[in-house]
Amino acid sequence: MSHRMTLVLAAAAMLAVVAGSATAQSYEGRKKCSSCHKSQAESWGDTAHAKAMDSLKPNTKAEAKKKAKLDPAKDYTKDKDCVGCHVDGWGKEGGYTVEDPNKFTTGVGCESCHGPGSKYRGTHRKAGAAYEKSKKTAPRQTLADAGQDFSFEESCNACHLNYEGSPWKGAKKPYTPFTPAVDKKYTFDFDKYVKDTKAMHEHYKLDGTFTGEPKFKYHDDFQSKAKVGVKGSED
Ligand code: HEC
Ligand code: HEC
Ligand code: HEC
Ligand code: HEC
Repeated sequence: MSHRMTLVLAAAAMLAVVAGSATAQSYEGRKKCSSCHKSQAESWGDTAHAKAMDSLKPNTKAEAKKKAKLDPAKDYTKDKDCVGCHVDGWGKEGGYTVEDPNKFTTGVGCESCHGPGSKYRGTHRKAGAAYEKSKKTAPRQTLADAGQDFSFEESCNACHLNYEGSPWKGAKKPYTPFTPAVDKKYTFDFDKYVKDTKAMHEHYKLDGTFTGEPKFKYHDDFQSKAKVGVKGSED
């Protein structure tokens, strides 16, 4: 390879790094996800995750709050020690803020589990159209490269296992008040909970537009029992 060629390649690689960081994935809110994935969105709407902000309002979940030494009469909806785990993308690009609350990032929504969607959702649209036209599939890896999460566990842990003395190494303040020491029912069991369709959403059959690794470890299991759902489009 010529010296000149090496330089050109090095410059291109540097540009790619700069461009990559300039267009880092950001949170956009669930509006677009929901208009394409109508069935999942409807099912998710019935979950505790969807209603997580309500629990921060005064005079809700009074017994649970008392047990965790919180004040049931207090409004915690703007409290920075609470809000972060009851919304999408707290402290991250495009995520929920107390100063400018967005109803599409209120509650624990799609992007809290699937990852910030600004980059991968466009690939869903394009790949979906190509599949519809000619049954052409696309690699799941391109979605992972654009920030879609296919393992989930770390994101769950950041909310569910974030307390002092937690088995999760990433724990840091503000901690969740609802720990196994308060009540054993708050013990987080990923493999059990991630299968709970009343807490995630019901699963609906995919056409198989995306193929290959990284595939979630229970993907085939979920798909084998999935229901037939309703799809939509961005508009
Ligand atoms: C952004 C923080 C956050 C993330 C990420 C998150 N959760 Fe949650 N989860 C919550 C909150 C907050 C609640 C309680 C909502 C309420 O009742 O107000 C909850 C409730 C639940 C419940 C219901 C518990 C019950 O008492 O019925 C289950 C099960 C659960 N989560 C599992 C998971 C799993 C599995 C993941 C990852 C795939 C996950 N969660 C990701 C914050 C989060
Ligand atoms: C580190 C993340 C985190 C923080 C910070 C956090 N929560 Fe939560 N909260 C959770 C999770 C996770 C759950 C679900 C626990 C479960 O059911 O296993 C939850 C559940 C709840 C519940 C429902 C409990 C029940 O038994 O139904 C209430 C009420 C609540 N949180 C209020 C608060 C308040 C008030 C604060 C601030 C003082 C707060 N949370 C701070 C993560 C957090
Ligand atoms: C608490 C975590 C959680 C939340 C919140 C969540 N999902 Fe999921 N979702 C999952 C898990 C786990 C799977 C299973 C992944 C797999 O099988 O590959 C999944 C699968 C899916 C699938 C694949 C097909 C299916 O039904 O299994 C779609 C599409 C989807 N979710 C869309 C959404 C949308 C849209 C939202 C918001 C309205 C959302 N999800 C919110 C955890 C979540
Ligand atoms: C323009 C429509 C559109 C939008 C917007 C969109 N998706 Fe998708 N999504 C698709 C299509 C099409 C597929 C492929 C479905 C199939 O194979 O049946 C897909 C596949 C998925 C899958 C399954 C991936 C796998 O492992 O095979 C998940 C999970 C998912 N979408 C979540 C989301 C989330 C979360 C958002 C919002 C950030 C979102 N989608 C936005 C159309 C969309």
